[in-house]
Amino acid sequence: MATIDKIAVLTSGGDAPGMNAAIRAVVRKGIYHNLKVFGVYHGYEGLIKGDIRPMDLGSVGDIIHRGGTILRTARSLEMFSEEGQHKAASQLKDRGIGALVVIGGDGSYRGAQKLARLGINVVGIPGTIDNDIVGTDMTIGFDTAVNTVINAISKIRDTATSHERTFLVEVMGRNCGDIALRAGLAIGAESILIPEIEYDLKEVGEKLIRGFKRGKNHSIIIVAEGAGNIMDISTRLKEYTGFDNKVTILGHVQRGGAPTAFDSVLAATMGGKAIDVIREGKSEVMISLCDNKIVDKPLHIAFEGKKPFQRHLYDLANELSI
Ligand code: F6P
Repeated sequence: MATIDKIAVLTSGGDAPGMNAAIRAVVRKGIYHNLKVFGVYHGYEGLIKGDIRPMDLGSVGDIIHRGGTILRTARSLEMFSEEGQHKAASQLKDRGIGALVVIGGDGSYRGAQKLARLGINVVGIPGTIDNDIVGTDMTIGFDTAVNTVINAISKIRDTATSHERTFLVEVMGRNCGDIALRAGLAIGAESILIPEIEYDLKEVGEKLIRGFKRGKNHSIIIVAEGAGNIMDISTRLKEYTGFDNKVTILGHVQRGGAPTAFDSVLAATMGGKAIDVIREGKSEVMISLCDNKIVDKPLHIAFEGKKPFQRHLYDLANELSI
């Protein structure tokens, strides 16, 4: 096996707070261990086109606290084709780059797996606000997104209380309800609607009525984007309760902002671990937070089924919001 002395890093899929801190860790620790590190701009799109630039210590200065990704990102359709995959691998091989660190979600890992089959050592770092990657307890960006939701809801609560209103707040997470669940538990939402659990809107409405009869002056319902159309949910709830509700869709505000301390540390430790595994000659691995330890696991784990749902948190949220 040839020794790897040149590596590259890219970000792919939706950006997530902490991606910059992870890039910084990969670049700085790589250079510390005498590797030449390249940054691939615009994800796999840029890789296919050859938008690959050398990184030095200064290229990652003053980014540790910034949201987004300095490498930019994209969702690449071309990377699904064999032609695109071959082009991408050649761009790396032509430059003598033997290993690629991919920071992104499981869709990004699929591209990485293809490159591994074409002779590139690949390492995945879980970066997505959704926390939907199988094989890791947490993804980079999730904690920040949950905190963004909590901050936004604390503002909504002020007006909700003043007008004694019910608010439905839609949060991101594609088909994963983790952002809704954690944020809902943290803010004490009256109900949390997530794609993993079937819900009965009549029951949700009855709970709202019970609450108002008991003297509650406002209610917050968190709706994960994958749990159904929030406008329909709002209309049906109005019918069941007989009173108005307001809808707020938080949207991409959840993807931005400085990473929390948790995400910054997760990004640094996962980025550092990626360099460790490259130096050990490993490939087709993902970096994972598992029972509070940073470990590496086979990449294919990320494609096996759906991330186990934390039912106990959902049940607890229900018990606390009677
Ligand atoms: O995967 C991250 C995410 O923010 C999801 O929560 C959301 O469904 C999706 O990306 C939105 O994607 P886009 O920014 O491409 O519209």
